[in-house]
Amino acid sequence: GKVAVMLGGNSAERDVSLKSGMAVLKGLVAKGIDAHAFDPAAHSLQELIDDGFDRVFIALHGRGGEDGSMQGALQILEMPYTGSGVLGCALGMDKVRCKQIWDSLELPTANWRVITQNEIEQVNAEALLLELGGRVIVKPAREGSSIGMSSADSAQRLEAALKFAAEFDDDILVEQWIEGPEYTIGLLDGNALPVIRLQTPHEFYDFEAKYQANDTQYHCPAGLSDEDEAKLRRLAERAFAAIGADGWGRIDVMRNTEGDWFLLEANTVPGMTEKSLVPMAAKAAGLSFNDLVERILAQTLE
Ligand code: DAL
Ligand code: MG
Repeated sequence: GKVAVMLGGNSAERDVSLKSGMAVLKGLVAKGIDAHAFDPAAHSLQELIDDGFDRVFIALHGRGGEDGSMQGALQILEMPYTGSGVLGCALGMDKVRCKQIWDSLELPTANWRVITQNEIEQVNAEALLLELGGRVIVKPAREGSSIGMSSADSAQRLEAALKFAAEFDDDILVEQWIEGPEYTIGLLDGNALPVIRLQTPHEFYDFEAKYQANDTQYHCPAGLSDEDEAKLRRLAERAFAAIGADGWGRIDVMRNTEGDWFLLEANTVPGMTEKSLVPMAAKAAGLSFNDLVERILAQTLE
């Protein structure tokens, strides 16, 4: 069959998606699959039907592609697609609702509060900061690649961080700062891949550390005991399934200095660029990039 690799789109992560999508396309073609790039920002979905496509590999990040809306549209077109369905994508995109579900299942996340756009002016930043331990990270609820994120350890910086995040979303997540390394767990067929530990000289694993810096270090194996590695993989699988996500994806986690884990977020269409983490974890599990994209595509036939 003919495969459309959806890439680009209209989100703030468009450029990252173009890189992910082109890498996926190359991988599929190398496997002898009849695959073509398809940018929904430039094409009507009707063209999928008119041009005889019979499956879609979704390599769109962020809103409009990773949040369930494209998944719903493709479902209505009866066009099989890779990755999670409408619900898993919608919840994975929304850090606030995601944390509500994890909290309700007693899966560990950092303490948090949500501030809506129209509450910003009334927020008592001093009190909020105090409530969350004196240092926080502020995030738009529905963005990716650390876009719109900043940290704050004073009322003044918190006010600025809220305003910055509000440029990207109406709902703003304010989370207690966790001091410690970030870990990430790729998932394939709902099963966790080897854990990766990230080390960056930046304050956190921000956009630059993710895509531009060459001083970000990736450790896989992550340096955990066998027991901790197994525990963390299991936590990632549970967190992923809890929001109704399935197939492939990635769960991001922090570990504080006491050794406690805190779930950060779920990504239902994680990056597939040459610096990306799921391909790195797949390689550690003996799967080349091309094998990985073929495996992800195969899920559309189940
Ligand atoms: N949102 C980016 C693409 C990621 O999670 O890898
Ligand atoms: Mg993300």
